[in-house]
Amino acid sequence: MKKIVLSVVAAMCSVSLAHAADAKAGQALYAQRCAMCHGEKGAGDGALAATMPEGQKPRNLAAGSNKYATDDAKLKELLQKGGAALGLSVLMPAQADLNDTQLGDLVAFVNSLKK
Ligand code: HEC
Repeated sequence: MKKIVLSVVAAMCSVSLAHAADAKAGQALYAQRCAMCHGEKGAGDGALAATMPEGQKPRNLAAGSNKYATDDAKLKELLQKGGAALGLSVLMPAQADLNDTQLGDLVAFVNSLKK
């Protein structure tokens, strides 16, 4: 029994070590789910941005001026919960259907947008 538990733990560790966050996979998710608001390069100039009221525009993700998502853990939380749950605009949607790996990939890509 002990042996089984140990090998399961070892297997889990090797899986999580094997997957370093993949910014390229994150870029594909970003293109599908974020670019229409935040813009292809994160400048906050996606096609939908023009339809949003002043003061609730998509953040410029390249500028490093986030109000809440100031580190990786908080950025992940924002993606899981959406803006409204964290005192930000309801226009920032939750990505509740993404798994932890996908969220990590997105975080890696969003970080790569910063200048
Ligand atoms: C429908 C438009 C829309 C989509 C789609 C969208 N966002 Fe946003 N996002 C916003 C708006 C609007 C804000 C600004 C919220 C505010 O200032 O209250 C925002 C803010 C943010 C912020 C800054 C949060 C902070 O702490 O200031 C980050 C980071 C972010 N979005 C990432 C993403 C990512 C990554 C995706 C794709 C998974 C995404 N957004 C999809 C509209 C959108």
